[in-house]
Amino acid sequence: MNMQSKQTVDGAQLIPTHIPKEPYFSREFLQGEKERLWPKVWLMACRESEVAANGRFITFNIADESIIVVRGAEDGVLRAFFNVCQHRGRRLVSGSGRALKFVCRYHGWRWNSDGSNDEVIDQADWGEVLCKQDVALKPLAIDTWGGWVFVHMDAENAEPLHEYLKPVIHAFRNYRFEDFSPVWKRTVTLPCNWKVALDVFIEGYHAMTAHRQFNPVSGDNRWNCAVHGIHSMFYSRVLPVLGDPCPHIEALGGLSEDEQLFQSAKTRAEKIHIYYMLLNRDTGAMFTERKVRAMKRLAEEMPADAEYMDLLMAMDRLHREEGRKDGIEWDAFTLQDIGEGGLDWNIFPNIAFLPQEDGALVYRARPNGDDPDTCVFDIYSLERFAPGTAPECKTETFGDWHETTWPLVFVQDFENLGEIQAGVKSRGFEFGRANPLAEMTCVNFHRHVRRYVNGEEG
Ligand code: FES
Ligand SMILES: [Fe+2]
Repeated sequence: MNMQSKQTVDGAQLIPTHIPKEPYFSREFLQGEKERLWPKVWLMACRESEVAANGRFITFNIADESIIVVRGAEDGVLRAFFNVCQHRGRRLVSGSGRALKFVCRYHGWRWNSDGSNDEVIDQADWGEVLCKQDVALKPLAIDTWGGWVFVHMDAENAEPLHEYLKPVIHAFRNYRFEDFSPVWKRTVTLPCNWKVALDVFIEGYHAMTAHRQFNPVSGDNRWNCAVHGIHSMFYSRVLPVLGDPCPHIEALGGLSEDEQLFQSAKTRAEKIHIYYMLLNRDTGAMFTERKVRAMKRLAEEMPADAEYMDLLMAMDRLHREEGRKDGIEWDAFTLQDIGEGGLDWNIFPNIAFLPQEDGALVYRARPNGDDPDTCVFDIYSLERFAPGTAPECKTETFGDWHETTWPLVFVQDFENLGEIQAGVKSRGFEFGRANPLAEMTCVNFHRHVRRYVNGEEG
């Protein structure tokens, strides 16, 4: 079948929703990404809080490249450099830490945190051939948005970050993402291509099946997508009536161990409370304890026969009230903003961004060196905090997701990854057939990756 064949949506719009399979495992495509994707886009490197103090640095590796993000020891200015010694190419540093100088452990050349060279051992041996200016560290473009540090390898040709992120910045203009701090950050090597991992976290179509524990109370949680150039997002197709079962519950079921929990709920508000308890339990992120507290009050304070719209308004009000008790507010972020922000964004190329009012999950998928069959996956769980009250972020790295325990939603997603990576290589699989409503995020993401790598349009 022709890869470009069209699908009809609502009998009118024709949208190609096929996703070619080769980019998931082709070494040639991986090479193309290294040459024509990663050096040509803005990349989310870290949180500003990870380089808060003067002299703090963190390394950010992607494919073959390693990048140092450092806050100047003297001037407090954020900068980014390729993490490589200008003498004979040793990688300079690894991990993160605090450094007044970067010293190469091969022959002792030394740089200041602003990238200028501080010492060439026996520089006189070169005579006039070598001067310090020539051996400064090679800079990247760097800028910040919402407490995130972004870098761009092609410093000369990079468009301004705020242009690149324009639709994202507009959608979250009242959100104050800089008030959020990471509570935990995990980096894990996963058994699939970076695009398989990202696919799983930028669409909601899989949730009814993979995360079926929510089906008894999630309502009709089907999704539409909106494409904003290279970026895209998804949002609720219809207003889900929380407390009602998902329409596919007969076919897909729930989790038997949770059945009793739902049976104990008499009112819709009690079911909504249980729904948020489950979301909090099974993600360990994004849906905060505070929100669960607010939903408990909803169950206690709202009359059993409350109209659904009144429940929705009360959910928002009680959540904001609980926030104020903790010294935080998101008054500028209105219900309308929340609706427009949707549930989940793909910030092109490799970020999945899931913000809630006072919690957020942010995923970053990166190729793992030259291996198309594995990737390095970072998960930031963030929460909104009153100034000066954020806890220390718990940072962990795992070589395999089985090395530790995870909230259920992660296990459910991770279990699919190796099976997808194996399946897409089969002779019995032609190409992905993405849902033209719920999976256009994936279609758009892949289309633009192919455009960068192969110059393909359409
Ligand atoms: S390679 Fe770094 S000082 Fe020689
Ligand atoms: Fe999932």
